Amino acid sequence: MKLQLPDAAATAMLAERLCTVLPASTVGWTLLLEGELGAGKSTFARALITALGHDGAVPSPTYTLVEPYQLPSGNLYHIDLYRVSSEEELRYLGWGELEDGFRLVEWPDRAASLADNADLLLHLDYGLAGRSAQLTGLSARGHDLVAQLEAPFDTQPQD
Ligand SMILES: Nc1ncnc2c1ncn2[C@@H]1O[C@H](COP(=O)(O)OP(=O)(O)OP(=O)(O)O)[C@@H](O)[C@H]1O
Ligand SMILES: [Mg+2]
Repeated sequence: MKLQLPDAAATAMLAERLCTVLPASTVGWTLLLEGELGAGKSTFARALITALGHDGAVPSPTYTLVEPYQLPSGNLYHIDLYRVSSEEELRYLGWGELEDGFRLVEWPDRAASLADNADLLLHLDYGLAGRSAQLTGLSARGHDLVAQLEAPFDTQPQD
């Protein structure tokens, strides 16, 4: 699914739309957030965490690597791998201990094996005005979810 996001508010709105199709419990889900420096990964993450019920600031995990949240849909881990350079470092970070939550991962390319078990991939790019976004389902349930987001466009009255 491809979209144009003319400004930061549009990026946030995409996160809010995604929130409406996520299951009541997001434990065990992984969403990868790809894009160059400044593409809007944190803008999207902040809007999604807020839409899922967090009230307050969403600090950047650039230095802490992981920022945890307790939300009505379960634990959520906002992860930034920008400073991680190997899979081994990721194990050291305790990736396995984040299984009881929803993992929202910025810079997932730092650890290629992450994509193997991820559900969704949001790729953000610089466009002529603002950004462009591509949301892809990686797992069967991720695929279903993207299909649900696309559905309104398939159900226009036909004549
Ligand atoms: N669709 C958009 N159009 C224009 N500007 C946007 C859009 N989405 C986000 N921005 C703006 O781009 C800037 C960078 O956003 P953000 O910090 O979310 O990027 P990032 O991908 O997390 O960057 P980094 O790689 O440095 O962590 C912010 O000023 C934000 O408001
Ligand atoms: Mg960021």
